[in-house]
Amino acid sequence: MKFTSTIILSSLLSGVSAFVPVARPTVATSSLAATGVDDKTEVREYFNTEGFNRWNKIYSDSDEVNSVQLDIRTGHDQTIQKILNWVQDDGDISGKSVCDCGCGVGSLAIPLAQMGAKISASDISDSMANEAARRAKEMGLEAKFYTSDLESVSGKYDTVTCVDVAIHYPTDKMAEMVGHLCSLAEDRVIISFAPKTWYYSFLKKVGELFPGPSKTTRAYLHEEEVVRNALKKAGFEVAREEMTGTNFYFSRLLEAKRV
Ligand SMILES: C[S@@+](CC[C@H](N)C(=O)[O-])C[C@H]1O[C@@H](n2cnc3c(N)ncnc32)[C@H](O)[C@@H]1O
Repeated sequence: MKFTSTIILSSLLSGVSAFVPVARPTVATSSLAATGVDDKTEVREYFNTEGFNRWNKIYSDSDEVNSVQLDIRTGHDQTIQKILNWVQDDGDISGKSVCDCGCGVGSLAIPLAQMGAKISASDISDSMANEAARRAKEMGLEAKFYTSDLESVSGKYDTVTCVDVAIHYPTDKMAEMVGHLCSLAEDRVIISFAPKTWYYSFLKKVGELFPGPSKTTRAYLHEEEVVRNALKKAGFEVAREEMTGTNFYFSRLLEAKRV
């Protein structure tokens, strides 16, 4: 841990500023209202433009990534693999329905479709959802991808997943989103978020001193207890958990089952 911390800090302090949750300083919701731009609008615009170009490369085999982006790719791949391992450990998923909210370019939905799951995946960004659909089609997979804010997603699914999306929203909004995700799930919800620990909060503060040159979105850490309480309130209990931390990527992963 000490060694890792040293690397993260030295990287941050030497001006490498693409530390994933340190997009730019977070501001209170009231001041967001004053600017007239809410998180959702900002996130949608970002992932339809500059964010799409950036994350489409990170979530691919592209060589056009710097060392920080490569590190984030490695961390994200680990999170995805942990979910796929859980699914595999549970036996055959073929024929089961999975709703992936905030699917990005399909990093989770596509391998799940390959495993035979019935995929309904959506993203607030047209560009991300279209790229996911393009990738799936290229691989000859049947999976539904469409553009939607996760709060507008409806239906019932065996599993609902939402990976690395909560980082874009303040905690009260995130808790509401968790409630909605749970309302869609018959059996389980798998969600990841950047945990608010003293250590990550400190790193975030340091990172905010070195804002990167490119446009990003605000980033929010969440107390795990709040996420667990939101799941519990919706009738779900955490069954499995994982933590992934590389130098520039950290993500807490919870699988919750309907009680
Ligand atoms: C960091 S990316 C993660 C993508 C994907 N879940 C993955 O792990 O590969 C965050 C994604 O969440 C999407 N997103 C953010 N807010 C959303 C919302 N309210 N509803 C649906 N998608 C959202 C963004 O457009 C973006 O594609």
